[in-house]
Amino acid sequence: METASVPQLDPSGGRVEPILSTAPHFSRFPVGLSNLYILSSTAFGCSMMVVAVSVQGLRKSFASLEVLKGISLDAYKGDVVSVIGSSGSGKSTFLRCINLLEQPDAGTIRVGDESVRFKGSPGTDYRVADRKQVERLRRQVGMVFQNFALWEHMTILQNVIEAPVHVLGLKKSETVELGLALLARVGLADKKDAYPAFLSGGQKQRAAIARALAMQPEVMLFDEPTSALDPELVNEVLQVIRDLAEEGRTMILVTHEMRFARDVSSQVMYLHEGVVEESGTPDKVFNRADSELCQAFVRSVHG
Ligand SMILES: Nc1ncnc2c1ncn2[C@@H]1O[C@H](COP(=O)(O)OP(=O)(O)O)[C@@H](O)[C@H]1O
Ligand SMILES: [Mg+2]
Repeated sequence: METASVPQLDPSGGRVEPILSTAPHFSRFPVGLSNLYILSSTAFGCSMMVVAVSVQGLRKSFASLEVLKGISLDAYKGDVVSVIGSSGSGKSTFLRCINLLEQPDAGTIRVGDESVRFKGSPGTDYRVADRKQVERLRRQVGMVFQNFALWEHMTILQNVIEAPVHVLGLKKSETVELGLALLARVGLADKKDAYPAFLSGGQKQRAAIARALAMQPEVMLFDEPTSALDPELVNEVLQVIRDLAEEGRTMILVTHEMRFARDVSSQVMYLHEGVVEESGTPDKVFNRADSELCQAFVRSVHG
């Protein structure tokens, strides 16, 4: 699944490796690199970096409030991008635009092989041209919300398998197997028949992550996944996200957990009033930011 959309460049049939994708701790390239494919030779053939998510010039207003003022990001397969910034800076709106829960007013969005087609004029009647494409794009994007958004009337296992059965059209027996494996992976095998109301916040969020993974998405978006949790439950959720990072999943994560962002990210993006005020490696953003606003933000959240 991870490499299904990748052109096969190695005629010997060897694995085509996305460069650096297996080392999430390793700093990659700064935000804004816009090449779609970067090829390089290795001893075993060709390697490549594949863009998983590319957003260029994204703008979004709510009435007269301009919330995103031209945001660009390229996330490569295996990248973990942390988005940080004060409340109201546009972080959630940015994530919601990526899977078109919000319609941007201008800009381009690409996830995997889907480059969203827009019609109309930027800033006036700009809108998605093809609703079917939106559905295809959303299948490639798993989203985890601050407040879990589990279906309360379904058991945890039903929550996890609902979309694969109805959206992907998989057989129920296959999805049950998949669902149980995912629940085991997030440490919830024994909760499969429980209803969300009987779970702790940390367990609910781990179930929500399993549910998102069940769609086998190209990219995972997390919007402050630990902000609604009691402090003692934060780590169990961060550990699951860390495991996903270590297995090379592409993720974009809005978080206030700065230490975590520093540890797991390949890129960090600091948003201020709808602008990418600073971006780059965790070292750059946390230790050597050019922007004084970013430096002040980092100081304030580190206490
Ligand atoms: N659906 C909406 N309608 C009107 N204003 C909104 C809507 N969503 C977000 N906003 C406003 O956009 C700004 C950015 O919000 P948001 O993206 O949620 O910021 P963050 O996630 O960084 O806290 C805020 O001023 C917020 O009130
Ligand atoms: Mg938010």
